[in-house]
Amino acid sequence: MTIRDAVKEDAGALAYLLNLAGEGIPEYLWGGMAEGDESALDAGRRRAARDEGAFSYTNARACVEDGIVLGAIISYRQPDPYPLDDLDEYPEIVQPLVRLEARSPGSWYINAIATFETHRGKGVARRLIADAEEQARLAGSTQMSLIVASENVNAKRLYEHIGFNTVESLPVTPYPGCLHGGDWVLMTKDL
Ligand SMILES: CC(C)(COP(=O)(O)OP(=O)(O)OC[C@H]1O[C@@H](n2cnc3c(N)ncnc32)[C@H](O)[C@@H]1OP(=O)(O)O)[C@@H](O)C(=O)NCCC(=O)NCCS
Repeated sequence: MTIRDAVKEDAGALAYLLNLAGEGIPEYLWGGMAEGDESALDAGRRRAARDEGAFSYTNARACVEDGIVLGAIISYRQPDPYPLDDLDEYPEIVQPLVRLEARSPGSWYINAIATFETHRGKGVARRLIADAEEQARLAGSTQMSLIVASENVNAKRLYEHIGFNTVESLPVTPYPGCLHGGDWVLMTKDL
């Protein structure tokens, strides 16, 4: 198993994984961006292949084995300061996430992490997070952050095991295809 920068050709795998990590929110939003005969995931693939934007492959690292992507992570440094002036321009369901993001300005933010179902429990996520931590240190960040659904108990337990602590929670705004009620939970880890 090795970890490498994601490349444009990974965009299909990234779209699938990002949607898992985003609890179905990406597919819901991509559905509104689909062009012509595109499915929501097609639109996600197109967006992941762009050179800009948070979901770009340029912010992603992939865990691969024998040329196959097993899992991926999207992480980057949050702006500091993190103003909320344009909060109203975000879709309503995303606003609690943006509010929580703004609570850890300058942190190295794990926007998304997921492992293909067939490769879970082999340490892929742990490796990807350790790799992101290395990137964070190299970039001079002193804190990492992420947001997890309170009902995503396996992921939350994993983060707790590797040193993340809960900082603040906001209720999930329901959306079509919503997997969870409960809260979005901001977790941070000091480096
Ligand atoms: C959460 C997720 C990324 C973990 O990926 P993974 O590659 O299987 O994780 P790892 O193999 O590195 O395991 C890390 C730890 O979590 C535990 N774990 C991972 N998935 C688990 C599951 N489905 N059930 C129980 N425990 C699980 C492992 O036992 C391991 O614990 P240990 O290191 O103490 O033994 C993966 O389950 C996933 O992709 N879920 C869907 C997307 C998602 O929820 N992403 C997070 C959004 S915030």
